[in-house]
Amino acid sequence: MLKIGIIGWRGMVGSVLMGRMAEENDFDGAEFVFFSTSQAGQAGPEIKGTTYELQDAHDTGLLRELDIILSCQGGGYTSRVYPELRQAGWDGYWIDAASTLRMEKDAIIVLDPVNREVIDRGLAGGIKNYIGGNCTVSLMLMGLGGLFARGWVEWITSMTYQAASGAGARNMRELVNQMRIIGENSASLLDDPATAILDIDRNVITTLRSDLFPTENFGAPLAASLIPWIDRAMENGQTREEWKGVSETNKILGREDNPIPIDGCCVRIGAMRCHSQAFTIKLNRDVPLADIEEAIENHNDWVYLVENTKEATLRELTPARVTGTLDIPVGRVRKMNLGPEYLTAFSVGDQLLWGAAEPVRRILGIIRE
Ligand code: HSE
Repeated sequence: MLKIGIIGWRGMVGSVLMGRMAEENDFDGAEFVFFSTSQAGQAGPEIKGTTYELQDAHDTGLLRELDIILSCQGGGYTSRVYPELRQAGWDGYWIDAASTLRMEKDAIIVLDPVNREVIDRGLAGGIKNYIGGNCTVSLMLMGLGGLFARGWVEWITSMTYQAASGAGARNMRELVNQMRIIGENSASLLDDPATAILDIDRNVITTLRSDLFPTENFGAPLAASLIPWIDRAMENGQTREEWKGVSETNKILGREDNPIPIDGCCVRIGAMRCHSQAFTIKLNRDVPLADIEEAIENHNDWVYLVENTKEATLRELTPARVTGTLDIPVGRVRKMNLGPEYLTAFSVGDQLLWGAAEPVRRILGIIRE
């Protein structure tokens, strides 16, 4: 029976992963070992009546006995433990939600509804490292995979509206706390229907600009505002999140030698865990809209087309609707005034599901097949 180790199962992505694995009965048919970086010896998860004792995530002797290691522990852990394991001759499969190994030559970025062929080639060729992609990239490809698969995409810009969860659990708390303080400070003005709206606005902006307003994690107010910067600066003026759009997408598609240009501006907004994106897509020919819609809709089991009406958009194409589901709605699809080869579309996806836990859960299943 395969021995599978899971590290980082209690964190945000790890918890979503554990929930999905339980839903899909993934814990059947293999021996699981759960690790902790700080609580070895204590009680770990309870699965079907069995409580697992936590093992030490730095015990490389123990890790080397595993056939597959799945880490949601974060990049710091990967950097510390992974090289040591490989140097010690460990030959198992390393599955990781963190970005550390993504761009390595001997690693494949996994998104099997989009790149199953690349994954299968990697498995057949003896590749042992399978890494989950950047959330924005994975969600774009789940939505627009059909256009890439038909070879119609000349270039894309993606303007993103990224949720707090992408920055981490503490950031999500900070966002809600910011909302609470705005609400509390404006409560008496709001309760009086006669209050002038500009007085309420002044109250909110005074709250946002107060030195007491909590911004330790985001570095700026996010509630009632936005932050057009995600991750660190690259040398060319892009942020790293923007750079990942082109580099990871082309690696996922196996197009490193013939990359499709992709760029955009990545923006943090006050959604909790759904990333949204507005695309401008330059097609390499004038494809009829009906063919475009058919290609998008039939690409995978999770993407679906939202009619370009206000009613359908408000019902289907929002973080409030999509959060907690594997659905990938794509809407606002239309040819742009710029010309018949210019298409626009908007998509929403759960950053913790298809954006993080689900591709990693699925590659574990594929390796076990
Ligand atoms: N970098 C992403 C974000 C999340 O900050 O939203 C991880 O893919």
